[in-house]
Amino acid sequence: MELIDLFIFGLAFIFIRLWWRHWSVTGGRPKNLPPGPPGWPFVGNLIQVILQRRHFIFIVRELRKIYGPIFTMQMGQRTMVIVTDSKLIHEALVQRGPTFASRPADSPIRLVFSVGKCAINSAEYGPLWRTLRKNFVTELITPTRVKQCSWIRKWAIENHMKRIKREGFETGSLELMSNCRLTICSILICLCFGAKISEERIKKIESILKDVMLITSPKLPDFLPILTLLFRREMKEAKALRKKQLECLVPLIKNRRAFVEKGENPNPNQEMVSPIGAAYIDSLFGLEPETRGPLGEEECVTLCSEVISAGTDTSATTVEWAMLHLVINQEIQEKLYQEIVGIVGKNGDIKEEDVERMPYLDAVIKETFRRHPPSHFLLSHAAIKDTELGGYTIPAGAYVEFYTAWITENPDIWSDPSEFRPERFLHGDGVGVDVTGTRAVKMLPFGAGRRICPAWNLGILHISLLIAKMVQAFKWLPVPDAPPDPAETYAFTVVMKNPLKAVILPRY
Ligand code: HEM
Repeated sequence: MELIDLFIFGLAFIFIRLWWRHWSVTGGRPKNLPPGPPGWPFVGNLIQVILQRRHFIFIVRELRKIYGPIFTMQMGQRTMVIVTDSKLIHEALVQRGPTFASRPADSPIRLVFSVGKCAINSAEYGPLWRTLRKNFVTELITPTRVKQCSWIRKWAIENHMKRIKREGFETGSLELMSNCRLTICSILICLCFGAKISEERIKKIESILKDVMLITSPKLPDFLPILTLLFRREMKEAKALRKKQLECLVPLIKNRRAFVEKGENPNPNQEMVSPIGAAYIDSLFGLEPETRGPLGEEECVTLCSEVISAGTDTSATTVEWAMLHLVINQEIQEKLYQEIVGIVGKNGDIKEEDVERMPYLDAVIKETFRRHPPSHFLLSHAAIKDTELGGYTIPAGAYVEFYTAWITENPDIWSDPSEFRPERFLHGDGVGVDVTGTRAVKMLPFGAGRRICPAWNLGILHISLLIAKMVQAFKWLPVPDAPPDPAETYAFTVVMKNPLKAVILPRY
């Protein structure tokens, strides 16, 4: 080896050594980011996470113990700041709401389904988001609109009751989750398109939405965009799925447009039922966000799909967990049944205003949200500009993840947090808790501040009606020799690993 080779080799060695030291301490990040595990050059903590071969949530739980209430993970090119402390979450989402109200960049596959972030959940904090969210709130969830559409819930829940009765009696037991998903999905489809459609078609829409959730879940190139070219097949599959989604939903939009514009129903098999102006899609026909102009069919598909996917799994999961506890704990079930009977009688029709007068039902639902938050994180947030939180710098482009499940697991905030005890919301540490997190953060099933779930009231209404009707009509019992298993698994929401099966006995 010549002297010059030795010199170059030595220089390269020193350079690599310095580079490694810098990366392993900072992950290549700017200074004053929250602390975090040392990463590797270029990939940060990504490979360490992949090599652990377990769900991300378990890694976050461990890192919280080591690094405290706010820490950083460098996932490839993506800087992720994880916030777990209730005071910091309140500061970011409520006290300094506008600063943390944006969303980070979307992956190329997600952009296919959001038509370039034209959805409430993914739009950046700005005029498009404001227009879409305002339209959603005024057209879908005002008290007048909710009342006007109560016939949809009545229709769907009557079908639900018939279906579970048939399944329960024919097979000896019934699987709850798939039934709840179908029912809630049919309500949301009808709210969006104003039409009752066949069960077969609802199942098709539901199954496409499930595939969309799977295909849009984070993939390697989202963290390392340099690998995008190696994942061309995934992009091709995503485009094919989008085509399928459009083929499934555009006919519903066309039918409704014909109904709204000409008063005709081109598909006689499809009963047009909501009066003009009462379906969510009607409001989208005339909507012209200033940054995009009139919305086309693609945008309408995205915005309606958002409603259906945001509202189905979240609510169905909550009903399933609540019913698990009612099956396991017959005392809680009996107490709830007595409350229902006390308000509407054994055979009385449970109307929407009745469930608002059931404090024990409310306590059961809140305890379910506390003990089994449908998602352990909020959707990813982003700061609108470089800012500061907990004494650290939060760069504008970073993914800010609020790990809200920790708040309800925290023994400093809740006594015996792993116990399911609805009574705590009647006379205990849950009294007066604000689920919207506005005053303080003790539980956050819907987020808080600017990006709080705009339909949290509607979600609670669906859950309350389903539980109240099912408990009034049937006594729910474990399947002999196959007791319910409360093990969790992580899908779009945190669901039961083995879906709840129960035996139902008619009460009257
Ligand atoms: C139990 C039921 C529900 C739960 C637990 C729930 C939970 C959430 C959560 C945690 C967020 C994210 C908040 C954030 O990022 O800070 C969210 C956002 C959202 N949810 Fe819900 N949700 C429920 C029902 C619904 C329903 C029924 C709909 C529609 C009819 C809906 C529509 C939305 C939309 C559009 C957003 C995006 C808001 C934005 O980014 O501005 N959700 N929801």
